[in-house]
Amino acid sequence: MKSLILALGLLMSSQAFAKEVTIYSVYPAEEISAIFTPFTERTGIKVNIQTGTTDELQNKLLNERNDTTADLYLDKDITFLAAAKKADLFQSFTSKTVKANVPTHLRESTDLFTLVFYRARVIMYNPNKVNPSELSTYEDLGNAKWKNRLCVRTSTNSYNQALGGYLVKHLGETKTAEVVKNWVQNFSVEPIKNDRGVIQALADGQCDVGLANTYYLPAFIRANPEFPVKVYFPNQKSFGTHINGVGIGIVKHAKNVNEANLLLEYFTSVEVQEAVAAAFSQYPVNKKANMTTILESFGAFNEDTSDLSQTTEAISKANEIFKNVQYK
Ligand SMILES: [Fe+2]
Repeated sequence: MKSLILALGLLMSSQAFAKEVTIYSVYPAEEISAIFTPFTERTGIKVNIQTGTTDELQNKLLNERNDTTADLYLDKDITFLAAAKKADLFQSFTSKTVKANVPTHLRESTDLFTLVFYRARVIMYNPNKVNPSELSTYEDLGNAKWKNRLCVRTSTNSYNQALGGYLVKHLGETKTAEVVKNWVQNFSVEPIKNDRGVIQALADGQCDVGLANTYYLPAFIRANPEFPVKVYFPNQKSFGTHINGVGIGIVKHAKNVNEANLLLEYFTSVEVQEAVAAAFSQYPVNKKANMTTILESFGAFNEDTSDLSQTTEAISKANEIFKNVQYK
């Protein structure tokens, strides 16, 4: 009897190993392949990872069309995922487990992709210069009281484009243009190359308030627990703080759709969520999973729970506004 079970087990696993799934990923294989090792051990589904930039992978999918070996596409930002959606590169995932694991606002509205972990784009401030009671909303960063005190990253960056989409979605174009124009008038320095630079400028006293993604701050705090930059979650009384995340969807011409759905179930399960979100210092999309201690120390917050597709659809308008008000 025992040998029969063993033999069955072997048979099952050798059959199962014939299955595989291929992910096109902007993250290099060495950064993410460990995530899928337990998945392969449990299901027998081999996970292949092919890496490239957003443009490379999306062009590849467009050129390969029906001949593609890709089953899933993973990218780091809703701006890029929305571009893939617009190019008709996805099909909806169907797994009920994934829909149960991930709240609606963290999935594309027709399930073309789901976020797998996410961050908030928050106001960061130097507590030696600013009392958090002075802070409220993204819009308020245009208030004259922040003149020569605000620093931000360049407008060509996808994180700011998505934030612009959020503003247009909630405020409309006219009001957004007014807000961003006021931000520009408050800049203490020219737009900075990256979020880390914004955080460093706050610590160095080049500015007092800025905008950055939550996951950039933990490394600074780990290096120096007294690091003089803090997180403020804006728009708590209105639309909730703008969030953006890393997401994955099943590609339109996937050959291994069942396996791809199983991988999404695995990726959004509590155990994986906890480990992976922590490794990337981001928030888990599965609300049953705990977040890492350092994110917990930033505090609970209301996030924007409206449709993320409406944010991404407003990005082109936001880009026009950035240009018009000369936010470089
Ligand atoms: Fe980043």
